[in-house]
Amino acid sequence: MIILAIILFVVLVSILWQRWELGKFEVTHYAVPSAKIKSPVSVAVISDLHGFSYGEQNHRLLEETAKINPKAIFIPGDLLVSKYPRTYASALETLAKLVKIAPVYYSYGNHESRLREEECVNHELFGQYMRDVRALGVTVMGTETRSISLGENQVMLSALELELDYYEKGSIAPMEASYMQGHLPLVEPEKFQVLLAHNPAYAEHYARWGADVTFCGHNHGGLVRIPGIGSLVSPQWTLFPKYDAGKFEISGRSVIVSRGLGTHTFHVRVFNRAELLAVEFQPKRQQA
Ligand SMILES: [Fe+2]
Repeated sequence: MIILAIILFVVLVSILWQRWELGKFEVTHYAVPSAKIKSPVSVAVISDLHGFSYGEQNHRLLEETAKINPKAIFIPGDLLVSKYPRTYASALETLAKLVKIAPVYYSYGNHESRLREEECVNHELFGQYMRDVRALGVTVMGTETRSISLGENQVMLSALELELDYYEKGSIAPMEASYMQGHLPLVEPEKFQVLLAHNPAYAEHYARWGADVTFCGHNHGGLVRIPGIGSLVSPQWTLFPKYDAGKFEISGRSVIVSRGLGTHTFHVRVFNRAELLAVEFQPKRQQA
């Protein structure tokens, strides 16, 4: 009887703790220096929000985003949960406020890509959602490249939408060495290149293609993070994902993986606080 009471107590405390933990996020700051940047400029990155709202109408997330004073807000996918249309409304409500802070660039995660499939049960609803998103003035990006202004800097912004095969559960599908070149234009080496690519499993491909900085999400930090080791499991059910969270330097280029802001299905975060990214692109003098 006493053992049962202890188990129930531990379960109750764990549930309450997780409810408390899931209501919090932090702002993680990164600097990305580059000789291609003329003057310092900040951007905000909101990944894997999954329809979450931090406070009434997401006011806490919106306030912290505004404090970054971003010249752009990048959303590398999974702003909603594909099977829950109520999250579309929450995502729209947040986007309506974000566009008042800075231009918003939104690329697809696996949840959006799934909804783009005609046979998906919520496909029609998603179509209306995307029309509403565009009507707000959000720039929605499939697999494409465009030139954008960030303060005094003119940079190239690309987005990559992966086929759903690359999100299969239990394994990481191999990617052809030429995949990036086959889907996006060649990087112009003299221009600062940003890439929004939801799935970090292919970080090496993104860096080798030439993105100076890539923003990924998808892993949610791995639900449970083990101090000194990292993420336990990815949403694709691969154990100890290599590119789990944080900033990785690959071939002299940066890949920044967000722990995300929301969760779905398994609402668990242990040593894995949700995060909003504040990223400053900084000028770097070229060595003589
Ligand atoms: Fe995802």
